[in-house]
Amino acid sequence: MSATHEPGPRTPHGTLRDGDQVQLTDPKGRINTITLQTGKQWHGHKGYLQHDEIIGRPEGIVVRSTGGIDYLVFRPLLQDFAVRMPRGAAVVYPKDAGQIIAMADIFPGARVVEAGAGSGALSCFLLRAVGEHGTLSSYERREDFAEVARKNVEKFFGGPHPSWKLTVGSLEDAITETDVDRVVLDMLAPWECLDAVGKALVPGGLVCAYVATTTQMSRVVEGLREHGSFAEPYAFETMVRSWHVEGLAVRPDHRMVGHTGFLITARRLADGVTPPLRRRRPAKGAYPETTGNELTTGDGNTSATPPADVTAGESEIGSPPA
Ligand SMILES: C[S@@+](CC[C@H](N)C(=O)[O-])C[C@H]1O[C@@H](n2cnc3c(N)ncnc32)[C@H](O)[C@@H]1O
Repeated sequence: MSATHEPGPRTPHGTLRDGDQVQLTDPKGRINTITLQTGKQWHGHKGYLQHDEIIGRPEGIVVRSTGGIDYLVFRPLLQDFAVRMPRGAAVVYPKDAGQIIAMADIFPGARVVEAGAGSGALSCFLLRAVGEHGTLSSYERREDFAEVARKNVEKFFGGPHPSWKLTVGSLEDAITETDVDRVVLDMLAPWECLDAVGKALVPGGLVCAYVATTTQMSRVVEGLREHGSFAEPYAFETMVRSWHVEGLAVRPDHRMVGHTGFLITARRLADGVTPPLRRRRPAKGAYPETTGNELTTGDGNTSATPPADVTAGESEIGSPPA
């Protein structure tokens, strides 16, 4: 029998309680998120319903408003909360947050640094992943955004999270941590932080940058290569296509989110180690003045795809196995 955890905002299971957030979904799929309070009413566009009809009952119930509208009741998932929460800065979307957790290898107990905290969406995902035995230190240079992030994180977890520290300041000036396992950067100019990141990470640690444009991606990748403290970076993006599945009409949805951002990961080398020679010469014209020495700095495979001729077990540093 596995250990049981007290239900609470950080372990959202069990019957619905006073103070819990729930989302009410009407038959048209419209969602309203409310915080349950004993004795309160929630007014919809047709009639109202009593919070007491929900408190003490399980998730997944249907409650009917006085106007005859049926609402499905669930606690919001983190992905629901992240896309609906109040924003200062643009948030990391769940599809990318999931990739960051997997590809930046955020594990329970990890010591993680993040910048900028923005609206706190990624902070929530990272806190979930590091758990109560890990640490997340988030830096945000704008005080107003830091306040939004703090409110969102505390709302999601039902109060201050014991593993979270939020600092107002620019990461490159304010960082105090050393021996960090992972650094996650979501900001305009991550290349400005590479010195600070290199000093903070343990050998074998990993930096992950999330950027919106190809020019930023290029600058981060080249900055990591030039820095000397990192193994070959891996750059990629993900696309999620939802499907319409109804009877014989089974096809991709007509609409999708075409672009959010690019992700770059790189591992921290041990001190004094220089990256091994790359096996492939850069494509002609990949760098402005090709001297032949670039063999050590890149392979011209700027598409971020692992090279086609790399077979499992032989992957290049920075690329996952094919
Ligand atoms: C796109 S937002 C981050 C959104 C956040 N990841 C989320 O999911 O809510 C980028 C944030 O980085 C902050 N920022 C930019 N450069 C920074 C730096 N060097 N140190 C700390 N914060 C920085 C900006 O003020 C902005 O709030």
